[in-house]
Amino acid sequence: MSYIRLGLHKWSNVNKQFLVALLSGVVVGFVTAYVILSPAILLVALGDPHTSQEMESASGPSIDPGVHRHDEEFHQMENSTVADLMFKKVRILCWIMTGPSNHEKRARHVKATWGKRCNKLIFMSSQKDDSLPAVALPVGEGRNNLWGKTKEAFKYVYHNHMHEADWFLKADDDTYVILENLRYMLLPYRSTDSIYFGCKFKPYVKQGYMSGGAGYVLSKEAVRKFVELGLNSTKCSKSNSGAEDVEMGKCLEAVEVKAGDSRDSVGRGRFFPFVPEHHLIPGHVKKSFWYWQYIYYESKEGMDCCSDNAVSFHYVTPNQMYVLEYLIYHLRPYGISYQVEMPPELVEEHEKNKMTSL
Ligand SMILES: *[C@@H]1O[C@H](CO)[C@@H](O)[C@H](O)[C@H]1NC(C)=O
Ligand SMILES: *[C@@H]1O[C@H](CO)[C@@H](O)[C@H](O)[C@H]1NC(C)=O
Repeated sequence: MSYIRLGLHKWSNVNKQFLVALLSGVVVGFVTAYVILSPAILLVALGDPHTSQEMESASGPSIDPGVHRHDEEFHQMENSTVADLMFKKVRILCWIMTGPSNHEKRARHVKATWGKRCNKLIFMSSQKDDSLPAVALPVGEGRNNLWGKTKEAFKYVYHNHMHEADWFLKADDDTYVILENLRYMLLPYRSTDSIYFGCKFKPYVKQGYMSGGAGYVLSKEAVRKFVELGLNSTKCSKSNSGAEDVEMGKCLEAVEVKAGDSRDSVGRGRFFPFVPEHHLIPGHVKKSFWYWQYIYYESKEGMDCCSDNAVSFHYVTPNQMYVLEYLIYHLRPYGISYQVEMPPELVEEHEKNKMTSL
């Protein structure tokens, strides 16, 4: 008996030491991982992508989903007069941040969905691709070059396409944008105003800065100031590295471009740094997540989170782009229709068009 007990005692002593070592290893490992990866770890169980790491495995449809045929009855009911007028009056150049490994996987799905509604669509890469088209900017790939790439992209736009648009949108290849709502938001502003819009975050920059993933839109005047004053001086970081959106925010503040308010008339946001589900389902974005400390204006979660005229969502997989496309532009509850009033900014143009079509 005593022998066995002694043996067990010895065994459990050794085991205890081993267990303590093992446990402290696990704890240290977890704490380290938590500190380094906390946003990713907090959200890993949530399913939908929430970070760029989680987006890496997402790929789009391998068979072309084709186009949606309009139901004749619905098609006749659709009235896009206002959207068509806005298309001409609020011209938007969209440039999409992408890279060679994502031309096929993501960029072409942006082009097949929301990208086609931009007045001009350009993909910014480090490899030329005429089918998109993608521009080969003289910068390296990877997160460490995003700021450098953003500077080069706006420089390229400034030198080659300034006359083709009034506003200049930067979006990622996993951002989904509703162009009609962006034009509607911009309608009261002039492209000569020194302003930019997006999902405004609080830290690092006094007037706030715009989330990179949700996309941000600069007036023509803001692009001019950014390139002529910002990139040509020590006001903006000369390095290629640094957080793209924070550096952009600092730079635009330094050249006196105002960080605009993109909320709708009832105070709901229009630019979103996550997919709709993460804003709509309470608790999906944990209270401890950086988002709640960063967001500039008080924002709600749940069904009242988001504007009826929302402009953008981020971390949208290529497949989900086709889903949003269907939900936003095709699915309609039968028997409910709505008419929008002609915005005052468009009345004159509308009257002119009516005269010429008579
Ligand atoms: C379409 O909408 C515009 C603007 O609200 C309106 O002036 C026009 O009469 C509408 N057209 C039709 C066919 O209903
Ligand atoms: C940068 O500044 C120089 C000297 O002031 C000027 O000649 C040049 O045109 C500026 N470049 C841009 C892109 O504005």
